[in-house]
Amino acid sequence: MSSTPEKRISILISGRGSNMEAFLNAERHGALSGRVVRVISNRPEAAGLATASKAEVATAVVDHTAYESREAFDTALVEAVNQDNPDVVVLAGFMRILTPVFIDAFLGKLVNIHPSLLPKYPGLNTHQRAIDNGDKEAGATVHYVTNELDGGPPILQVTVPIETGDDAASLAARILAFEHIIFPEAVNWHLQERLVQEVDGAYLDGNKLPSTGTLREWQT
Ligand code: GRF
Repeated sequence: MSSTPEKRISILISGRGSNMEAFLNAERHGALSGRVVRVISNRPEAAGLATASKAEVATAVVDHTAYESREAFDTALVEAVNQDNPDVVVLAGFMRILTPVFIDAFLGKLVNIHPSLLPKYPGLNTHQRAIDNGDKEAGATVHYVTNELDGGPPILQVTVPIETGDDAASLAARILAFEHIIFPEAVNWHLQERLVQEVDGAYLDGNKLPSTGTLREWQT
């Protein structure tokens, strides 16, 4: 009898690493359809590296400041990630813009979380922009990564209310708690081979997902 090989997860971070920690927690609770084989940071000082080490997960640093161009850095990052032989590469607060050198190497297995209701607010300062525009709702979106910044096919999106008196920090904190739920959930679909990226979008169980991805409403 042949057993299914364990699925392998590489996580890329740049900072705090709370989303990465959500994957480690899910794995510890038997709720992750794979194993986090390594956490790689482009910043040696990223706090998430210590969290990963404490959880006895292998870590590495590929310091972007040591490379002369984005492409040279991405080439080194491809080499590092390839050592992990991953089934999925999770961008968990990885704050470097990636070039096609990296994206094309892992196309179809590269997943990011973005703190907005994509396609609204790609890029930075998403929470402040939602507040400034008088939006009633904000949220986060898990999506496959393509060469269009924050423009790859959405997989799973959570909507949370913007409350009176919210500032960027309070809104970010409310959304973050839900990021920690939807990110491992979406990646599990990929690892379970229920979810695939095609040229025209993401497909779950053979059905094309809407332009927002699958929707989750905020629940208390
Ligand atoms: C999160 O808000 C995520 O949506 C964005 O970067 C932040 C990373 O936070 N891409 P953490 O490092 O996972 O705590």
